[in-house]
Amino acid sequence: MIDEDRSALPAQGVPAERVLAEIRELRGMDRPTHGGRLFAYVYDPGVAGLEELAAAAYAESAHVNGLDPTAFPSLLAMENALVGAAARLLGGGPGTNAPAVVGSVTSGGTESLILAVKTARDARPEIDEPRIVVPASAHAAFAKAAHYLRVEIDSVPVDLDTLRPAVADVAAAIRPETVLVVCSAPSYAHGVIDPVEQIAEVAAAAGVRCHVDACFGGWTLPYLRRLGAPVPAFDFAVPGVTSISVDLHKYAYAPKGVSVLLHRDPALRAPQYFAYADWPGYTMVNPVISSTRSGGPIAAAYATLRHLGDDGYLELTRQTREAVRVLADAVRGVDGLRLVAEPASTVVCFTTTDSGPDLFVLVDELAARGWHTQPQLGYAGLPRSVHLTVTAAVAPRAAEFGPDLAEAVTAAGVTGPVTLPPELLALAGALSPEALTADLVAGLAAGLGLGAGGGLPERMAPVNTLLDAAAPALRERLLVEFVSLLQRPSY
Ligand SMILES: Cc1ncc(COP(=O)(O)O)c(C=O)c1O
Repeated sequence: MIDEDRSALPAQGVPAERVLAEIRELRGMDRPTHGGRLFAYVYDPGVAGLEELAAAAYAESAHVNGLDPTAFPSLLAMENALVGAAARLLGGGPGTNAPAVVGSVTSGGTESLILAVKTARDARPEIDEPRIVVPASAHAAFAKAAHYLRVEIDSVPVDLDTLRPAVADVAAAIRPETVLVVCSAPSYAHGVIDPVEQIAEVAAAAGVRCHVDACFGGWTLPYLRRLGAPVPAFDFAVPGVTSISVDLHKYAYAPKGVSVLLHRDPALRAPQYFAYADWPGYTMVNPVISSTRSGGPIAAAYATLRHLGDDGYLELTRQTREAVRVLADAVRGVDGLRLVAEPASTVVCFTTTDSGPDLFVLVDELAARGWHTQPQLGYAGLPRSVHLTVTAAVAPRAAEFGPDLAEAVTAAGVTGPVTLPPELLALAGALSPEALTADLVAGLAAGLGLGAGGGLPERMAPVNTLLDAAAPALRERLLVEFVSLLQRPSY
């Protein structure tokens, strides 16, 4: 950590150059956002000059307010262009046979999903206790939406081999109170595409909306299909699909803060709006959760899409697909590892076999070699796994992964598995979240090297092993406590 005075409100203002130098110094603590060695959180096309363009476009519109499109038509024009591009990519108009898809730009995938659930809920005001049908592989943002909106979830398990829900199970989960059925194209954790056509059909037969969460990979699937990959129907070409979300800050490679929520037609979108005139100020009309909205992310996304163009995305997807192939081959070539799913999109997900090393130790060994992967905890019969979100910037480095992976597996074998005190593991397995006291959390955090200073320990395997031993409810509680230890104001 940086220890000199870094108050955000110093007694005297700090010169611009120094402030920027400070930010650059702080950024030095972060994982590398470029270079194709970070397999989560960031989406890097590795295109020279793109970031500068997006930053300039952002600056141009940062102070424009999306609150009132009549005051700032520039923003409306760019938003409509982004929605049009997403709609066209995903089977919407123009054209007489394509649905007249409409949509909004939101701040991210989670906001798009919350709004998809809100829209479906508010379209059925006669239902007192609305419910949504959600495959267990769907993104956690649906749980957040349900929590915020007081909607119940009917979770559908996924097959442990295909990692997809059975259509019959989805159909059986639909009840008279169901307002929305959800599927993923693809899922985040494993990159698997749900059987959208069949799920949308059972939803439509029941008169229920069907949302396709294409936040993660919706921008690449059409290009993968054009490149010859066997991508099943997942977009508005499927009759029962009523809404789709796609994040521009993922595979459209725009800076953070932009997702698009599309509806098949304006009537389906109508309940998304919130309007309020019953106060003395301006009448508030909001299509999304935020009211004041910066134009920065929208302008940056607009610049990114226009600069890369359709041909640019096709080429970036080609590079990404090649990188996925190389990484998956690397996994196949190392004893002790296996792919959790054959890559169907841009995710490589692997786990260890019985003769393999401790997965969490392996993740640390990869990090020690400069490869930052995302460990996923075991869940509902699914094994712990390593998730790689593969972007175009990985392509030039992909060939280096295999040798490092083999070396990391050997090193993890030499290190041996994490051995936490058995009583600690037993506690993690048995403790109910309610029994967790502040002292217990502080003790655990200190023991694991977490907390004070904001830094994480170099080796995360003990932390992951402890979390893996805990049930989801305890994982949630522990991580909330750990994160709240980190979120302390620096006065
Ligand atoms: C499939 C899917 N849906 C939704 C989200 C949530 O997106 P965000 O983090 O932009 O809120 C993600 C994020 O990874 C995702 O992969």
